[in-house]
Amino acid sequence: MKNLFSSLIALLMISVMFIYSCNKSTEKPVISKDSLIKKGEYLVTVMGCNDCHTPKKFGPKGPELDMDKLLSGHPENIPVAKVDTSLMKDWVYFNHLLTVAVGPWGVSFSANLTPDATGIGSWSEEQFKKALKEGKFKGLDGTRTLLPPMPWQNFHNISDEDVSAMYAYLKSIKPIKNLVPNPIPPDKIPAM
Ligand code: HEC
Repeated sequence: MKNLFSSLIALLMISVMFIYSCNKSTEKPVISKDSLIKKGEYLVTVMGCNDCHTPKKFGPKGPELDMDKLLSGHPENIPVAKVDTSLMKDWVYFNHLLTVAVGPWGVSFSANLTPDATGIGSWSEEQFKKALKEGKFKGLDGTRTLLPPMPWQNFHNISDEDVSAMYAYLKSIKPIKNLVPNPIPPDKIPAM
């Protein structure tokens, strides 16, 4: 009887250990929404997305990020200045906000990445991933390839975890209504 009892206890302990080890191996680390957003903020910052996607304002030491317009892209109310097209063979131009670039591809405007309807408000995470990794406009199949200087080629091998974190962060920031203009083809550039 005593033997049977200790065998039962041993069996019970083995089962508990087995169940515990099974659970442990399939368990994924749980990341809270807050830490996902924090990680996304960190990635968006160190990867330099603000360089082009946040307009600048001018302080005593030169350009600073305009935090009221965080990641809202080229401001719709600022027209493109006339360009000396004779220099375009050798130069790539940026406007003073670093939100407009002129080059052999024409004129491109940095996109609104805030969660407004004029930004990525209606985008799924899949769309964001496709835009970032494959350089697809709006992250949709069959659309045009994103123009320079959007450095999407750099992000080709980014992990799904990092994409999720950046997406969560961008969806958490202040939505800003700003309809960024369409790119201008090279032969339509407003020349001086
Ligand atoms: C050197 C400037 C530059 C940097 C740095 C940059 N972008 Fe862009 N980005 C652009 C420009 C310009 C466009 C618009 C290109 C076009 O219209 O084809 C764009 C477009 C996009 C789009 C597509 C928007 C749409 O409507 O299809 C996404 C998404 C995007 N950028 C996300 C990012 C993220 C996230 C980062 C940082 C990891 C980043 N970009 C860094 C310049 C930049």
